[in-house]
Amino acid sequence: MTPEDKKRAAAEAAVAYVKPDSIIGVGTGSTVNHFIDLLAAKMAGQITAAVSSSEASSERLRALGIRVVDLNDIGKLDLYIDGADESNTRLELIKGGGGALMREKIVAAASREFICIADDSKLVATLGAFPLPVEVIPMARELVAGELRELGGEPRLRAAFITDNGNQILDVHGLHIEDALDLETRINQLTGVVCVGLFARRPADRLILSGDDGIRTLQS
Ligand code: A5P
Repeated sequence: MTPEDKKRAAAEAAVAYVKPDSIIGVGTGSTVNHFIDLLAAKMAGQITAAVSSSEASSERLRALGIRVVDLNDIGKLDLYIDGADESNTRLELIKGGGGALMREKIVAAASREFICIADDSKLVATLGAFPLPVEVIPMARELVAGELRELGGEPRLRAAFITDNGNQILDVHGLHIEDALDLETRINQLTGVVCVGLFARRPADRLILSGDDGIRTLQS
């Protein structure tokens, strides 16, 4: 199976969790793109609307005939489907490789259930081989970079990239994250940080992993 086949298989398994007449949260990335395509193909006209975590996903949803609504008009969501860059077995995640971490965290926080979909290469023993994205207010970029170095990381500015919120991203290399909740808390407290792509305070509830042997589901 190619990586794309695996992503599509994980996405297909997630469609089974979507209830007709519901409003669902939809994340961002190549795995979620498969999910959006399959959702439109299999449940066209059956779901009420989606809350999206990025302009890119909103555009794809609308192009396929799925209505996109504002989270402020909805309140709580029953279900959020999104990908990840890494997951450990506690279903704590690194996200934000596509730069949508802040809105992804908002939609995850607003959802009763968060199902993460990924190919099996994303499951790791310890988070941190994937550089940890940190969204920063541009004015505070160097201030935050210094603090991240104090925490043991090596921040690198994501070149030629501005988030949907008008901010910049520092990708932090060289971390070996044993206590994800503690690191998430510490980075969240740095002045100038908008969001850190660690999802430990609100991990996934379920991880659908696709591999050569088929689908495996982990629950927290
Ligand atoms: C987007 O900002 C990310 O959090 C994505 O969920 C993550 O990068 C996974 O993307 P892929 O599905 O493209 O690997």
